[in-house]
Amino acid sequence: MSDISPSALELIGNTPLLALDRVYPGPGRILAKAEFVQPGGSVKDRAALRVLEDARESGALAPGQPVVEMTSGNMGAGLAVVCNILRHPIIVTMSEGNSPARARMLEALGAEVVLVAQVEGCPGQVSGADIDAASTRAIEIARERNAFYVDQFNNPSCVRAHEEGTGPEIWQVTGGDVDAFVAVVGTGGTFVGASRYLKRKRSGVYCVAVEPEGAEVLAGKEVAEPCHLLQGTGYGLVPPQWDPDLVDGFLAVSDEEATRFRRSLAEQEGLYVGFSSAANVCAAVKLIESGTVGRAPTVVTVLCDTGLKY
Ligand SMILES: Cc1ncc(COP(=O)(O)O)c(C=O)c1O
Repeated sequence: MSDISPSALELIGNTPLLALDRVYPGPGRILAKAEFVQPGGSVKDRAALRVLEDARESGALAPGQPVVEMTSGNMGAGLAVVCNILRHPIIVTMSEGNSPARARMLEALGAEVVLVAQVEGCPGQVSGADIDAASTRAIEIARERNAFYVDQFNNPSCVRAHEEGTGPEIWQVTGGDVDAFVAVVGTGGTFVGASRYLKRKRSGVYCVAVEPEGAEVLAGKEVAEPCHLLQGTGYGLVPPQWDPDLVDGFLAVSDEEATRFRRSLAEQEGLYVGFSSAANVCAAVKLIESGTVGRAPTVVTVLCDTGLKY
């Protein structure tokens, strides 16, 4: 009976590390954290749990107090899962640029969804200005309803979730046999947290930030194309918790490449994941083929979310 999980919270973290040997048969190997198996369907469950646990512990979040956050969908789903179990009402503000399936999923999880008109992005694709508009509304709601504002872009708990979770899990399961870590960047929590831990264990772990082609601001380029398919990432801004010292290289992935890899992951690996996951795998292949990390490296990346809501 000791194997019984008392709640869905126990399904967050400790995700399997999958070998993608069919999509990339070698030389070398791509291993991917299956973040989509978590109850909210994405990597953001980790940040949601950590933020709320830390806030409750510090007293910033009182029992039963409402929680509010701006989301592109995944953080909202993670927060809804955690809030339902810890018994906090959850309100999410979301740009109308996100797919309607996201709002439906959040409502099904019991979240109150406040849609915010797009400022400049395209339908299906959200820009930094759209994020700002949704954040402004979340801050207003926090004031009006005395709600706890998560503030995922600035909240250090979001980085800690990966520095104390994802990173150590990768190190432990690979037995330290990891040559490179490759990840897309939204708030930067995943990249910064996991890279920081891995580099602390071995400074030679090569960490690559992945950006949508045409929106490569972290690589120091002007945004030529703010509209892309990698929802949840590539907002054309440098996230406040970004740490450039952790980056060994940048790789860009086009919509066409992400679409192609998304199909390959489904058809060859049986993994129906979102576009950012596909971009990560595409970038991992590019990194290996570049020869930068040796002839047959082990490259770890992240399957950020399920493909069911695109
Ligand atoms: C689909 C998807 N992929 C990747 C990310 C990036 O994660 P992070 O915010 O940790 O950089 C997000 C963030 O919301 C996301 O929704």
